[in-house]
Amino acid sequence: MSENHAILTIKDQTYELPLIEGSEGDKAMDIRTLLKDTGYITLDSGYMNTGSCKSAITFVDGQKGILNYRGYAIDELAERCSFVEVVYLLLIGELPTREQLKNFRELMAKHALIHEDMIHFFDHFPPNASPMSILSTMVNTLCNFYPELTADTDDALLSVAARLISKVRTIAAFSYKKSIGHPLVYPRYDLSYCGNFLNMMFDKPVRPYVVKPELVATLNKLLILHADHEQNCSTSTVRLVGSAGVNLYASISAGISALWGPLHGGANQAVIKMLEAIHHDNNDFEKYIKKAKDPNDPFLLSGFGHRVYKTFDPRATIIKEACEQTLKALNVDDPLLEIAEKLEEIARNDDYFIKRNLYPNVDFYSGIIYRAMGIPTDMFTVMFAMGRLPGWIAHWQEMIQDTKDRKIGRPRQIYTGAKKRKFVPFDERG
Ligand code: ACO
Repeated sequence: MSENHAILTIKDQTYELPLIEGSEGDKAMDIRTLLKDTGYITLDSGYMNTGSCKSAITFVDGQKGILNYRGYAIDELAERCSFVEVVYLLLIGELPTREQLKNFRELMAKHALIHEDMIHFFDHFPPNASPMSILSTMVNTLCNFYPELTADTDDALLSVAARLISKVRTIAAFSYKKSIGHPLVYPRYDLSYCGNFLNMMFDKPVRPYVVKPELVATLNKLLILHADHEQNCSTSTVRLVGSAGVNLYASISAGISALWGPLHGGANQAVIKMLEAIHHDNNDFEKYIKKAKDPNDPFLLSGFGHRVYKTFDPRATIIKEACEQTLKALNVDDPLLEIAEKLEEIARNDDYFIKRNLYPNVDFYSGIIYRAMGIPTDMFTVMFAMGRLPGWIAHWQEMIQDTKDRKIGRPRQIYTGAKKRKFVPFDERG
């Protein structure tokens, strides 16, 4: 980090603001003493221009379309690693050796079951309960069953993370089996993380599931691409909730709730609903493009646009290619793929989208792959949550360990309500 100062002038007073530069050239002004020094706060709705922390986990350059985890380019990781390797990388900061990976896999396998008493919880949700609500609830309650939660050494962190990541996969698959009234399929020691998930989802007593290597490879890729994305809405939620000192499970449960929103991870479901609507409307693209451009219509092109990327989202490029390959490998002919590709082409040639730098994001093509795998639409955001878990945990840990800069998250406001006034007793109010 190199540091010098910016000069801020307010009326006739000048103030020095330290300048901070990150390892990849990010620039910031440190305003932490601004209120004390000047009496002013900064106002930044939606945190368009506010850095909430320093972080060494993930780097995003939204102008160039670059995404690196711990310094490694996302396309290389997605092509050459398993999800479990990337989990280790995000948590520890280095790719695992053969021995470290073997031990971590063992740890994941060891923690795959959930306490049998938790299984009864599933019976008390209504049949069409949202899987995101179930996931958030179940993760929150894990703290009652597994309260030992120290993550102050690498080994302790790996143990806590293995437990959470492994159990979330089991909860996700169990919630699906419960929703369709089928018997639960337990995790197996001999299957990989992704192979186990597919088996728990689709194996049936009457028809054993054969885990397809190409589906395992695609799922690995999807989870890697979702594994972290620096200070997005859900990760910032995990950090904010965690900054109050609450346990990891409760912090992650809050992150799951944030991810649920259609402007965030919930967009992958919304994309499919939008593509289906276009399909049922005889592919009337013009109607939907017009709606998306109308400032008086709340409709947006789901899966388009991003706060940080003002060019291609590198994840979307990889997912689009994986989508075409997976559908081909599975011999699936989904009309929604053609509709998505056509919609992308129209939008990318339309002035409205060009001027605003709106490109497909990570959610635009992922749902079409999940559909081809047989995953129901209302579980798409659960898939995103499974992928994002290592990022959430790594950020929670980084925040907890930052004893120098850690503070409870507590933004300020500009009050615009009634000025101080005299209380009106009940009898005098008419
Ligand atoms: N369709 C149509 N217009 C859009 C879209 C879209 N998908 N996204 C942004 N715009 C327009 C806005 O209306 C605005 O227009 P204006 O300047 O005329 O007012 C302009 O583009 C800038 O958009 P903002 O809303 O200011 O961008 P912001 O950074 O606040 O929002 C967001 C980013 C939430 C992703 C937005 O693009 C969006 O809602 N996209 C659709 C939902 C979606 O796909 N979310 C997933 C994002 S990726 C993720 O979270 C995992």
